[in-house]
Amino acid sequence: MSQADLIARIAAYWDEHIHDLSITTYPVGTPGFFRQLNEYRYDKLKYLPRLVDFNGYKGKNLLEVGCGVGIDLVRFARGGANVTGIDLSKTAIDLACKNFEQSEQNADLRVMNGESMKFADNTFDLVYAHGVLQYTADAQKMIVEIHRVLKPGGEAIMMVYNKQSWLNLMRKVTKVPLEHEDAPVLRKFSIRELIQLLQLFQDYRIVPERFPVKTRLHFGWKAFLFNNVFIGAFNLMPVSWIRRFGWHLLTFAVK
Ligand SMILES: C[S@@+](CC[C@H](N)C(=O)[O-])C[C@H]1O[C@@H](n2cnc3c(N)ncnc32)[C@H](O)[C@@H]1O
Repeated sequence: MSQADLIARIAAYWDEHIHDLSITTYPVGTPGFFRQLNEYRYDKLKYLPRLVDFNGYKGKNLLEVGCGVGIDLVRFARGGANVTGIDLSKTAIDLACKNFEQSEQNADLRVMNGESMKFADNTFDLVYAHGVLQYTADAQKMIVEIHRVLKPGGEAIMMVYNKQSWLNLMRKVTKVPLEHEDAPVLRKFSIRELIQLLQLFQDYRIVPERFPVKTRLHFGWKAFLFNNVFIGAFNLMPVSWIRRFGWHLLTFAVK
């Protein structure tokens, strides 16, 4: 399959599978829908507001690649950043427009491929891509683009999945599929592989995060054991043992 065909398949998949859609009980695109997605996100990803300074980019030019419906991007906008969001999926961008409208925030939102962006070199102070490199056709190509559109000294914040993590191990043992495992591309990275991708940057820091929290996506005995036994046992282990097995590798890189 050509790269263009793969990108078209990825776009079609994400048009049909908006991230975290299954946890919402409100009609798609309503205020309740966005409120629920927002609450769910920062409950599941408690590390995000702790490690990402959503209010720290006032007056800065910020690009989110693969912004989905724009939950994080609205936060950056509320913090005063001049925000641009792109996504391959038209459904995601249409919903992001509604999200911004209802939040009374402004953004430049466009359907665009993060592997070949229509922005000039050295445009942005921050490029943010949370959960995107692992789903694109060519992660290296996207990193080169992210680096290109960043200003010298600009920062990239990216999150990819950790191959050597508790969740990947659970997946193998329990055979319970990961979210979006049916996506055309789902790549996991070892820390070493991620470091190879980051060689363009002058500096980087990788923080493993996302440790087990109660699942709201699965039911039955496996979910019961996970919620009531596994999480408790995991949390008894010293942080220094488990740290590097976090499912999310949050990366801060400087151009
Ligand atoms: C798991 S969702 C993450 C959405 C959002 N960043 C979040 O954290 O909720 C992955 C998103 O990446 C987008 N995506 C994948 N490949 C892309 C590409 N090459 N260019 C732009 N967006 C892409 C998908 O359309 C989808 O909206």
